[in-house]
Amino acid sequence: MSFISIQDVCFSYEEIEEGKHVTNAVDGVSLEVEQGEFVAIIGHNGCGKSTLAKHLNALLLPDSGRVLIDGDDTAVEDNTYAIREKVGLVLQNPDNQLVASIVEEDVAFGPENLGVEPSEIRRRVDAALRAVDMYDYRGHAPYRLSGGQKQRVAIAGILAIQPQCIVLDEPTAMLDPSGRQEVISTLLKLNRTQNITVVLITHFMDEAVLADRVVVMDSGKILTQGTPGDVFSQVELLKKHRLDVPQSAELIHKLRGCGLQIDKIPLTQEDCVALLEEAMR
Ligand SMILES: Nc1ncnc2c1ncn2[C@@H]1O[C@H](COP(=O)(O)OP(=O)(O)OP(=O)(O)O)[C@@H](O)[C@H]1O
Ligand SMILES: [Mg+2]
Repeated sequence: MSFISIQDVCFSYEEIEEGKHVTNAVDGVSLEVEQGEFVAIIGHNGCGKSTLAKHLNALLLPDSGRVLIDGDDTAVEDNTYAIREKVGLVLQNPDNQLVASIVEEDVAFGPENLGVEPSEIRRRVDAALRAVDMYDYRGHAPYRLSGGQKQRVAIAGILAIQPQCIVLDEPTAMLDPSGRQEVISTLLKLNRTQNITVVLITHFMDEAVLADRVVVMDSGKILTQGTPGDVFSQVELLKKHRLDVPQSAELIHKLRGCGLQIDKIPLTQEDCVALLEEAMR
């Protein structure tokens, strides 16, 4: 059984937004995520990414279908507490997630709420801050940190709960390039060294290419999924659904259109340069 098992989930919001009733924000999604996987979810605005993310820690419950976390059904109320310990959610704006006036107090907030004993809280807070490389800032005021540092403190706050999985909903959308880089390398490190499952929702294709698997959503459904190489080779399909592809993939795709013979679609600048050098020889 996969760590996350999403089985034919449909969900629609009750409220009416901008005068129209939104039918099925998530529309028949099935998706399995293994423990230790790094999955990126992409898709244009309003396709249902955030709605799906909120199903992963029982913030939303399916209208039909089910979501199992480590075998436990999110719709069973008795499971909610355990599920929220297993799956932590990090949101876009770090300012909305930091609650205390000192970094280490902020990180302690989660385990305190769980009733963890003080010596264990101290140990978890230190370990979490070290894991995101923010230990030296433990006595600082969060509001004085950069965006990337704040978001790493928010991730440490989730880590202190010792989840098996972190779901991040566009965690880098409000960050500058160096902040984005800090957050993404932190996630890769947590995934590789601590086997933490990562589900990363992002608009940045250069982040998605780093995942083990990319899931593309469109109109509440999964349009396609696969390795970054598989998904970003489908340049026409992605463009048809108003999605970007990594710049290097785009360039080679265009050059192919002009008659250049290159079979592979590169995902990074380095791959792209290597392919072009080869083609010019
Ligand atoms: N609280 C809400 N009430 C009513 N409709 C909502 C609500 N939140 C989202 N929706 C609608 O549900 C659909 C899916 O929205 P969702 O936020 O899940 O998309 P998204 O892929 O996360 O978009 P974005 O890229 O803009 O973050 C959209 O049509 C949106 O307008
Ligand atoms: Mg969203």
